[in-house]
Amino acid sequence: MDKLILSGGTPLCGEIEISGAKNAALPILCAALLTSEPLELSNLPRLKDVNTLFMLLEQMGVTQKAGEDARILDASGVNNPIAPYDLVKTMRASILVLGPLLARWGEAKVSLPGGCAIGARPVDQHIKGLQAMGAEISVEQGYIHARATRLKGARINTDMVTVTGTENLLMAATLAEGETIIENAAREPEVVDLANCLIAMGAQISGAGSDVIHVQGVEKLRSARHRVMPDRIETGTYLCAAAVTGGEVRLTRTSSASLDVVIDKLTEAGCEISILPDAIHLKAPRRLKSVSLRTAPYPAFPTDMQAQFMAINCVADGVATIRETIFENRFMHAVELQRLGADIHIDGNTAMVRGVPRLQGATVMATDLRASASLVIAGLVAEGKTTIERIYHLDRGYEHLDAKLAALGASVERAGCAHLVIPA
Ligand code: UD1
Repeated sequence: MDKLILSGGTPLCGEIEISGAKNAALPILCAALLTSEPLELSNLPRLKDVNTLFMLLEQMGVTQKAGEDARILDASGVNNPIAPYDLVKTMRASILVLGPLLARWGEAKVSLPGGCAIGARPVDQHIKGLQAMGAEISVEQGYIHARATRLKGARINTDMVTVTGTENLLMAATLAEGETIIENAAREPEVVDLANCLIAMGAQISGAGSDVIHVQGVEKLRSARHRVMPDRIETGTYLCAAAVTGGEVRLTRTSSASLDVVIDKLTEAGCEISILPDAIHLKAPRRLKSVSLRTAPYPAFPTDMQAQFMAINCVADGVATIRETIFENRFMHAVELQRLGADIHIDGNTAMVRGVPRLQGATVMATDLRASASLVIAGLVAEGKTTIERIYHLDRGYEHLDAKLAALGASVERAGCAHLVIPA
């Protein structure tokens, strides 16, 4: 199993490009299922999760070929609307095939995702919403079995804000008969990116980006081209990495549009940040100031940046309080950061982080994607060598992480089996 070995202490300096957003690419790839015409997608990130989804879609009968700097997906020959446990267990986002399959084929069998490292993460809201649209759903032998002759528009109010839940219902509603209103919808930029792709495919959607989305169902969707938005979490992660090392970086092919709260926190920590067209420039002080935060659905502070900010607070000047309100078990990185010498106290969903002058390298274990990112950030600033085990989590969500860090001057080495090979 691959490991990442970091030697800390070098300020990150230079310029790198940000990849397409994983959390936008995954639902948008599933949107290909909604039409029998080709969907051309560019700026897809080269990630293990994207590969997993390609495998899942191929297994259903979707074909794909390379276009000019793009992939062209063709779901005209889908013959197997099943998402098996083997693939779903490696990537929860596989649940995103449920809505499109049901809307277009009237039937879907998708394995229940089960638990994951950051909490129980049920999919009851996806099921409840589809039932409101007339689907008959049963759970048999670990599979969600959904059937509907044609989904019908409905008013759906989810019990909590759910990102993939909103995306699943949004996709299903595009082909339903009549109007669907999704209330308490997720406002995340990735939902908006998906909606923009669906609109390009002929869907009638208004309100994406607000908490009420209206969808007027259409008979069919058509061929379209779409460019996936830049990854705001990858952007935020590199900003944190540069900030903690006292570095100066320019991140290109990205946007600050959906990163206001992260940029504000880094500014509060003492960084100078300039926003350029399609780029962000950050210059960090020698030592950051602690910043407290509370995660909540967009536009508040993203849970997917919580672990990275915990890492920077570990060596910042002061005491920070971090409250996690989205997932019940998302402090797994804290015990690993403690192995590097961090001073962190957890009380329920709140972590108190007292900055220490320095961390010391050690062997740590990646537990989930963003937790792994926090260990990388800590390793970049820890004295000596930090070895991060189980880095397959990082390959799920960060394209060429080691190469990008090396381009910024980090001392980073991948050890173990072969490099991840991801087709262009
Ligand atoms: C998505 C993101 C993930 C991010 C999360 C929150 C993707 C592929 N993943 O995950 O990176 O951390 O949003 O921003 O986009 N819940 C239920 N029942 C449901 C659905 C959700 O109880 O049917 C709960 C979850 O357990 C969690 C909360 O609602 O406590 C929010 O989860 P949700 O927004 O659905 O997360 P994901 O869409 O899985």
